[in-house]
Amino acid sequence: MDIESLRRDTPGCAHKAHLNNAGAALMSRRTLDAVTSHLELEATIGGYEAAAAAQDRIEHTYDALARLLGADRDEIAVTENATRAWDMAFYALRFAPGDRILTARAEYASNAIAFLQTAHRYGVSVETVPDDEHGQLSVEALRSMMDERVRLIAVTHVPTQGGLVNPAAEIGKVAREFDVTYLLDACQSVGQLPVDVAEIGCDLLTATGRKFLRGPRGTGFLYSSRRLTERLEPPFLDLHAATWTGPESYEVRPDARRFETWETFYAGKIGLGVAVDAALELGLDAIERRVTALAARLREGLAALPGVHVHDQGLRRSAIVSFTVDGHDSPDVAALLRSRDVNVSVSWATSAQWDLGARGLPTVVRASVHYYNTEDELSRLLDALPRPKA
Ligand SMILES: Cc1ncc(COP(=O)(O)O)c(C=O)c1O
Repeated sequence: MDIESLRRDTPGCAHKAHLNNAGAALMSRRTLDAVTSHLELEATIGGYEAAAAAQDRIEHTYDALARLLGADRDEIAVTENATRAWDMAFYALRFAPGDRILTARAEYASNAIAFLQTAHRYGVSVETVPDDEHGQLSVEALRSMMDERVRLIAVTHVPTQGGLVNPAAEIGKVAREFDVTYLLDACQSVGQLPVDVAEIGCDLLTATGRKFLRGPRGTGFLYSSRRLTERLEPPFLDLHAATWTGPESYEVRPDARRFETWETFYAGKIGLGVAVDAALELGLDAIERRVTALAARLREGLAALPGVHVHDQGLRRSAIVSFTVDGHDSPDVAALLRSRDVNVSVSWATSAQWDLGARGLPTVVRASVHYYNTEDELSRLLDALPRPKA
């Protein structure tokens, strides 16, 4: 990987040590140009006319995403964010009283809220699978919890609040063994490590454009396996998702685009395709090697500082590094770093009740690296940290 050239192609690298890639990574010049040139075209010839002229580039995004995930293009829906993709899939599932949803402790807050709403509405039970001794979902515990009432296994691959990578493919084996629908939130994993739906064995997978894929904000996508799509009626239907076939009838389209809406952010969709192309050109294996090496280096540097505690769990670690500094609130640490042009963010227990809440961590600072970050930027973070207070 030619880091210097990748940094030259990333305008933001000139301004900040951007270690908030789990929030939103920096777009490349190529992606930025693809987005802005489509917006220019819309402003010049009209939005509908621009969409017609860019038809190939728009359609290319489905091919690029399908290649990225090892799926077919008709199994991909492009949405405005990961949450909408996840909700469209989750709320298309039918639940009855007594059904069970099995999930992980490090589940994303919005997903947990949707589980609880469904539990309250339909009398479904939501159960978190215990972690193993490494702090990742215990596949053994999951297997022991399976019975005929389990309707869904829904887990987050890489949580928003720490360096854990949950064992997605091992979970998939259990789902396949018991023939239970498996929904994977891959929002923080896609773009930083290889994610192949066949290897993982999931039926549904959701992710966003702006994080490790380096796409534009306001983009997300859903993979819905062909075998499941036809059985799923989306919670919302419009004239793109379905055809009004007669005064009293409609027909839902057969492919995954039944989860989309007619109006969409075309410039973003095109930019997302360009960002996915770039990730595929670099190779997801190479990206994972680079980001995990940088993250490991950062964890080492942090752990060597007195009064600084690294909180990442799991056997396999991601590009996300979570830590606290004794005597300092995490938002203050993040603000201090930002004032020194080092971007990080904060994760709150209120957004991770079953994980940070249960571990007694009200907040953690989250630093998340991408391949264009450098050792020098990691040192800038380490040097800028406040001294611990007793
Ligand atoms: C694990 C996880 N899932 C889902 C989401 C939601 O993604 P979006 O903001 O694109 O809806 C996030 C965002 O931080 C996330 O970290």
